[in-house]
Amino acid sequence: MDKKLLIGNWKSNKTKQEALDFFQAFKESISKVNLDSHEIVIAPPFTLLSVCREAIDRLELPISLASQNVSSFPAGAYTGEVNAKQVKEFAQYVIIGHSERHKYLKEDENDVANKIREAKAEGLITIQCIQDENSMVHDDVDVVAYEPPTSIGSGNPDDPQHVQEVFIKVLGQSKALRILYGGSVNPSTYQQFLSIKKLGGFLIGGASLEADSFISLLS
Ligand code: PGA
Repeated sequence: MDKKLLIGNWKSNKTKQEALDFFQAFKESISKVNLDSHEIVIAPPFTLLSVCREAIDRLELPISLASQNVSSFPAGAYTGEVNAKQVKEFAQYVIIGHSERHKYLKEDENDVANKIREAKAEGLITIQCIQDENSMVHDDVDVVAYEPPTSIGSGNPDDPQHVQEVFIKVLGQSKALRILYGGSVNPSTYQQFLSIKKLGGFLIGGASLEADSFISLLS
């Protein structure tokens, strides 16, 4: 059985101490985590990447890191940007094109394509978020996360039957892709998605902020 990829997207949440508390609590409940069937990734804000790297290594946790975004430019005079080479020092994965970045930061498909190019050039594993079955999946993407915007943070996940239809359509473009579902996945909603064929895992926002709720998705 392929392991399911569970990515906790912390978005713009947590201070340094809160991140350390999360990993300590995770460590204390590690016996509840089924490592045979899960690959675990946390996507903290940029400011916490090094703190999280250090905590994961010190506590010897089976967790990889992702950044939530990456610059569409290489190193250079791009004030405020964090480039792929800098991310690669701490993380293995990068989330690109989250719908909140489209909505609030006006990120477009051209930005997404440039970010994927920069991330791939540094050997990062790219996770492209798509909003529906008609979204373009860029060449070279490693993982797709289908996240309908109305389901994100709303408590109303998409209908599993519809998720299955989207997966079939997206996988028709590239069978090599790994595909995840995201949008109001939490301990009380996730079971309904487990029978979806080709489910590669979940992208989880709110339910990844507390170690207890995240761990209950990993048992
Ligand atoms: P949610 O967020 O689990 O809080 O709905 C998912 C996401 O935006 O990645």
